Amino acid sequence: MTRSAWMILPRQVNDMAFFLGIDIGTSGTKTILIDSRGSVLAQATGEYGLSHPQPMWSEQNPEDWWQAVVKTVRTVVKKSRIKAAEIRAIGLSGQMHGAVFLDRNDQVVRPAILWNDQRTAEECAEIERRAGGRKRLVSLVANPALTGFTAPKILWLRNHETRNFERTRRVLLPKDEIRRRLTGEYATDVSDASGTLLLDVARRKWSGKLLEKLELDPELLPPVFESEDVTGRLTDAAAKLLGLSSDVIVVGGAGDCAAAALGTGVVKSGILNSSLGTSSVVFAHSDEFRLDPAGRLHTFCHAVRGKWHQMGVTLTGGGALSWFRQTLCPEMRPSAGRSVYQQLEAEAAATAPGSAGLYFLPYLAGERTPHADPNARGCWIGLTLSHSRGHLVRSLMEGVTMAMRDTLEIIRELDVPVREIRATGGGAASPLWLQMQADLFGHRIATIGSSEGPAFGVALLAGVGAGAWSDIVQATTATIKTADTYRPSPATRRCMEPVYNQFRQLYRSLKDDFQAIASLPARS
Ligand code: XUL
Repeated sequence: MTRSAWMILPRQVNDMAFFLGIDIGTSGTKTILIDSRGSVLAQATGEYGLSHPQPMWSEQNPEDWWQAVVKTVRTVVKKSRIKAAEIRAIGLSGQMHGAVFLDRNDQVVRPAILWNDQRTAEECAEIERRAGGRKRLVSLVANPALTGFTAPKILWLRNHETRNFERTRRVLLPKDEIRRRLTGEYATDVSDASGTLLLDVARRKWSGKLLEKLELDPELLPPVFESEDVTGRLTDAAAKLLGLSSDVIVVGGAGDCAAAALGTGVVKSGILNSSLGTSSVVFAHSDEFRLDPAGRLHTFCHAVRGKWHQMGVTLTGGGALSWFRQTLCPEMRPSAGRSVYQQLEAEAAATAPGSAGLYFLPYLAGERTPHADPNARGCWIGLTLSHSRGHLVRSLMEGVTMAMRDTLEIIRELDVPVREIRATGGGAASPLWLQMQADLFGHRIATIGSSEGPAFGVALLAGVGAGAWSDIVQATTATIKTADTYRPSPATRRCMEPVYNQFRQLYRSLKDDFQAIASLPARS
């Protein structure tokens, strides 16, 4: 660590101040530049791959994130034609739960293990046992142990790669590894830290008690900040590489779900968002700390100071459609001004709701909400010779939407108010998918003027850190407006309710088979 973050005060901003929002996503990094009115001046995306060294494992190389950050920051500055010296602050968002293991020289010890990796079922059981049972665990960190969370990954390293564990001095989340490279500081924010399973979510600080029970050194973890707090400034080397001033501050930022919530103005009770990225998320703001006693929803700190949120995460959301496109139609190319996704969507739109009896279970990476089952698998059920590619695509989109509906049902069951649902993520670019959400959720779905999601949310946090807005609620109120509204069609709802009930039954029917399949020796 090079400097004390708490001593850094932002410079006064004026109209000519600009802020960067950087989102370290799973398929790529998106960087945007906004001005102090919240207008997006430029954006750039740098893509990278994902490696699956064994079935259900998921890893990435942090160096790829960094290269994408450098490339996209330089690109947006160039595209926007502003003076780089007028950029005042950076906000970071990123895929949650990933573990970056660093040695004493801050070198990565092994590739990062990601949120959608399923190798840690035994470590989840170990955590529950060491904590004194599931109930006790939830009382310490507000959530049960799930394979995607960070703590089980740390225990996996200790149990399976002892040498790597012994070399590890720090464990950082993906966006916090980028912060370290930007500022030289180790730090995280409350929303992202919530997904480690090591944060006392109610008190917004690391759980000393759980760390002790797990025999983990608290020094492995960085200090925790609120999302709008300043955590450091660019090092001279990073400033030079990015072409920015070393006065640029970096704020706490947020995990991508909380950041997407800020980017859609979900900062008040009653407003939810539905986000369709690689995963899919239904997210509700909460003024008070409250738990799902059954542990199906995650209870995490929000990126709004002193507030919380509850959410459900489906591990394969838009990622199922990317998989379909890459695996089943690699030969398709953009045509007549329409992207491959637009062509597939048109084929799906030409079929009727319910996909002529075809069902898709979207559990390609196992499932988190509501089943918490790493052994669940993706499948089509009900295929006949009369089904076309359009049916395959529609059923896939319907399956993903019905998995999101599962989360919404839990939210409703817990009496969380649902007044407005705002759509975000890549899936929000699809009118068919938006209408499906309205029909299957039985609720109006609003879209937002800006489609930048998490990157926009953290660019606003950067503006708050630099003094452009007094807090994130003021920043979102001043800058975020809803655009279109999709209303449920009564006829489609009537047709889809029995389809949804059947969808729910399919997992129950197949659960034991998924378990049996997972215990067979894997053949490649
Ligand atoms: C949230 C989650 C995913 C990742 C990837 O709990 O696992 O949404 O953050 O975006």
